[in-house]
Amino acid sequence: MRVLGIETSCDDTGVALLENGRLLAERTVTQEAHRRYQGVVPEIASREHLELIFPLIHEVLGEAKLTLRDLDGIAVTCGPGLIGCLLVGLSTAKALAFSLGIPFVGVNHIHAHLLSVCLEHDVTFPLLGMVVSGGHTEILRAVDPDHITPLGSTLDDAAGEAFDKVAKLLGLGYPGGVEIDRLAANGDREFVRFPRAMLAQDSLDVSFSGLKTAVKNFVERSGGLSDDRFRRDVSASFQTAVVDVLVAKMERALARHHAESLILAGGVASNSELRQRFTVLAAERSLPLLMPEPRLCGDNGVMIALVGGRLLSRGESSSFGLGAYPTLEAIEASGPLGSVAHNRQ
Ligand code: KG4
Ligand code: ZN
Repeated sequence: MRVLGIETSCDDTGVALLENGRLLAERTVTQEAHRRYQGVVPEIASREHLELIFPLIHEVLGEAKLTLRDLDGIAVTCGPGLIGCLLVGLSTAKALAFSLGIPFVGVNHIHAHLLSVCLEHDVTFPLLGMVVSGGHTEILRAVDPDHITPLGSTLDDAAGEAFDKVAKLLGLGYPGGVEIDRLAANGDREFVRFPRAMLAQDSLDVSFSGLKTAVKNFVERSGGLSDDRFRRDVSASFQTAVVDVLVAKMERALARHHAESLILAGGVASNSELRQRFTVLAAERSLPLLMPEPRLCGDNGVMIALVGGRLLSRGESSSFGLGAYPTLEAIEASGPLGSVAHNRQ
C-alpha cells in the first residue's frame, strides 16, 4: 500500500511517501518567514503551507517516479496544532482523496511523534515515552500502537518554547533550541542554579514559566549579554535545569508504570544533553531507549504516513466531515478511536 503523508500542524510543511511502511521519498520545509518575528506567526504559517504543499507533493511523487494515480491512501495530521495550518493539510488531503476515489485518515500529531521510531526499530510494548517539542511536552504510555494514554503534560510553556524564549533573551536566533544546545556544550552548568519546578510529589506534569522568568530576571540583573562566556554559562545552566525536570518526571513515570521500552521524540529530542541523560536513565533500568534519528525528531510527513498507513492498511479511514483539532483534549473528545472519526470499511 502506497500512502502519502501530509504534515502542516505548525511551521514545517512535510510530505512523505511510504510503501508498506518503507520510505520512498520525503520533503520537509521549515518555514524561514518566522525568524524575523522570533516565533511562529499562525497566519503566515498557513499561507506558507498553501504555497508549499502542492509543489512538495509533486517533488515527492517525482522522486519516487510515481503519479497521484499510484496512491492507495492519504494520511494527514488533524491535530493538535494551529487551526489555520491544519486546515491547509486537511483540505489538501480531502480534495486529493475525493478526486482520486481513495481513503484518507486523520492522524494525531503527538502519537505520530511517539511512534515515529517504528520506522527504524522494532518496538516492544508497553512503552513509556516523552514527546518534547516547540508546542508540546507530553509523557505518554502505550500498551500497543492503538492505545496511547497521556500521563503528564506542560501546565504552561512547552520545553521547546522555553528554549526558544530563553534563546531570544540571550539574543540568539530563532528557533533557538539548537543554538542553546551548541553554546551549552562549552558552558558551566553550575554557573546559576535556576529553579526546577517539580510540582506535587505525584505529578507527571511540568511547568517551565517560572524557569523562564528566573532566566529573564538573572539576565536583566547581570547585564552580561555581550560576553560570550556569560551566554554559554547561562545556556548550560538553563539547559541542565530543563533536562533535570524532564528526566525526573520520566523517572517518576517509570517508577509507577511498567514499560518494556523508553521513547524520546519531538524536536527537543535532538538536544544532546537530554539524549545523553535519557541514555543513562534507560541503561540503569536495562530498557531499550528508542529515539528517532535527528532528521525525524522534528515535524515531518514520514511519521504521519507511517501511523496513518497502519490504519489505512487495515481498512480504517476518516470521514469527509473530519475536523481540525487544536489540542489533545479536543482530539480525545472527538471520537471512540481516540483520534478521529474513523470508518471501518
Ligand atoms: O517537533 P518540532 O520540530 O516542532 C514542533 O512540533 O514544535 O520542535 C521544534 C522545537 C523548537 O522549539 C526548537 O527550538 C526545539 O524543538 N529544538 C531543540 C533542539 N533542536 C530543536 N531544543 C533543544 N535542543 C535542540 N538541539
Ligand atoms: Zn511536532
